[in-house]
Amino acid sequence: MIPAITSLDGAFRLDGQNAIITGGNRGLGAAIGEAFAQSGANVAIFCRDQAKAAEQVEKLNAYGTKNQAFSCDVTSLESCKKAVDEAYEAFGNFDILVNDAGVTATGELLDMDEDLSTWTRVIETDLNGTVRMTFVVGRKMREAGKGGCIINVTSNAGFMVNRSQAMSWYSSAKAGANHFTHCMASELAKYDIRVNGIAPGFTNTELSKFIPSDMFDYINDQTVTHRFGEPIEVGALAVYLASPAAAQMTGHIAVIDGGYMLRC
Ligand SMILES: NC(=O)c1ccc[n+]([C@@H]2O[C@H](COP(=O)([O-])OP(=O)(O)OC[C@H]3O[C@@H](n4cnc5c(N)ncnc54)[C@H](OP(=O)(O)O)[C@@H]3O)[C@@H](O)[C@H]2O)c1
Repeated sequence: MIPAITSLDGAFRLDGQNAIITGGNRGLGAAIGEAFAQSGANVAIFCRDQAKAAEQVEKLNAYGTKNQAFSCDVTSLESCKKAVDEAYEAFGNFDILVNDAGVTATGELLDMDEDLSTWTRVIETDLNGTVRMTFVVGRKMREAGKGGCIINVTSNAGFMVNRSQAMSWYSSAKAGANHFTHCMASELAKYDIRVNGIAPGFTNTELSKFIPSDMFDYINDQTVTHRFGEPIEVGALAVYLASPAAAQMTGHIAVIDGGYMLRC
């Protein structure tokens, strides 16, 4: 059983905890890594672009924590296993896994490429990548017997149909990841592993640059806070979900979208 906090002293800190963050080299994953390091956690960045990862490790080192990058392609089980083995060798154990790696694409199904490659690429990364990493790291957490915390970065698109931009593959992958989060919260509770999701709305990163400029005003108008989210705000939410303060939080998907979904 995971004990409740008895005081707020240090309740929002992650001192000495070790975290794997897929996609931790840039965008939301980088912001989560920075928020973790600022809160005292050591960070293992899992991604493909190792040059960008090295830059990010340098940044995190400024907080005095231990940080390292590992080459990992979440679309390959072998690559996940290899990176996880290397990271455990370097860090000893992990308390936190953040499944952040993701890709997106827009367009309508009937206009998709004949081989359905867009559908496959997005599902393989955003849904199956989360499943692969949960499978590999979850087993290690079970074996270590020290509990753990898994955070899946999904999207508010997993809850609604974004009628301004067709992206059924992305929405379907994220809806799958949301429900996978619920199922894992139930399955892994007996190992004291909490599983939650963060479902951001439009947030300022490379991924959001695919949005055509004429849509920005429309999105800001539909968002009740009238702006895009900032990565640091997602980082702050991830720190809370990983912290002792959230001991009773599991199976929850926290939407952070400035109220965009209220329009539905
Ligand atoms: N930004 C938004 O508005 C927004 C809104 C809702 C949800 N999200 C979700 O938030 C997450 C991060 O998005 P972002 O905006 O930060 O995107 P981003 O800036 O494009 O970064 C994507 C990250 O995913 C990693 N990645 C992609 N494919 C991978 C693979 N096969 N194996 C390992 N890593 C892979 C990338 O690593 P490499 O550099 O090595 O490719 C990169 O670190 C995604 O799951 C996205 O769906 C974003």
